[in-house]
Amino acid sequence: MNTKPIIFSGLQATGIPTLGSLLGAIRNWARLTTDYNCLYCVVDMHSMTIRQDPAALRNYSRMALAWFVALGLDPKECTLYFQSHVPAHAELAWILNCFTYVGELNRMTQFKDKSAKNEDNINAGLYTYPVLQAADILLYQANLVPVGEDQRQHLELCRDIAMRFNKIYGDIFTVPEAYIPPVGAKIMGLQNPEKKMSKSETENEGNLVSLSDTDSDIIKKFKRAVTDSDNEIRFAPEKPGISNLLTIYACATGKTIPESEAYFSGMGYGQLKMGVGEAVVAMLKPYRDTYDRLMADNAYLDSVITQGAQKARAMSEVTLKNVKQAIGYPMQPE
Ligand code: TYM
Repeated sequence: MNTKPIIFSGLQATGIPTLGSLLGAIRNWARLTTDYNCLYCVVDMHSMTIRQDPAALRNYSRMALAWFVALGLDPKECTLYFQSHVPAHAELAWILNCFTYVGELNRMTQFKDKSAKNEDNINAGLYTYPVLQAADILLYQANLVPVGEDQRQHLELCRDIAMRFNKIYGDIFTVPEAYIPPVGAKIMGLQNPEKKMSKSETENEGNLVSLSDTDSDIIKKFKRAVTDSDNEIRFAPEKPGISNLLTIYACATGKTIPESEAYFSGMGYGQLKMGVGEAVVAMLKPYRDTYDRLMADNAYLDSVITQGAQKARAMSEVTLKNVKQAIGYPMQPE
């Protein structure tokens, strides 16, 4: 039996993963696979809160899973799967809905932001999205949840729901901790460094770097990155464009922020942008080659998907059974 502490995290398949998802989350996931029993999920059920083209959703989901493997998540060491393959997520989400207050959901900033962006489709799924997220995590008794800064509020709600439930029914759920990296937890857009780089960006392609961008696209995007007018390479809140470039460089090279500032000291913004672009190209290259190889190997990817679903189903059913018993559902006939 695996006695390591448990990690759960997820990624929405609404587009090709970005440099933001890689630096804020997936890279840290890969670092944790030896010390933890890790489950990493393509959360395709979450993606339904915004209208999706069915073929595109299926395609992006498979691509996301191939990226997981290419970025170093070894399916022999961790469980990689699609959320929609494990019905316990939806079952537990319903139960947890009944332990979550509308006042709490009303405070969720992502709900407010996404509602503002999709005024014609403010659906109930978008509203209860954080409850499904709590179910994802609590089903596996996760101890740690590595995420970017934008998920902090959802994690806090998940902890509140778990504690509320445990207070009534005893210690059913592990109360998880968020793991938010000190550097890279919020990679900003290259064109709009005041806002998070997001894979659902459609208006301005130059704002995001996707993991599938070619080397020349990446360099072009960095060359056009927004900076400021004083030509001083320094990490500071009043310099969001420069700070974002220094953060990306630090993450891509493994240097600290002060080391990155020192490296570029005395150089101009043109050299900074080129230097960061080249560092990103060098970092992504080996991953991209592996990804292309994986996407061409359908039999292997299918086997990863099947095994992941089986492992996740078995783990999730243990918690779901305990929950059903605790709340008073009639015993299931065998
Ligand atoms: P998603 O798909 O938006 O993003 C996946 C992960 O990448 C992080 N991330 C970023 N980090 C830094 N800078 C950025 N620009 C950036 N963009 C994305 C996110 O913080 C996230 O960790 N609701 C979640 C998915 C989810 C989940 C879960 C996560 C569903 N259930 C349970 C953890 C546990 C989301 O939409 O992530």
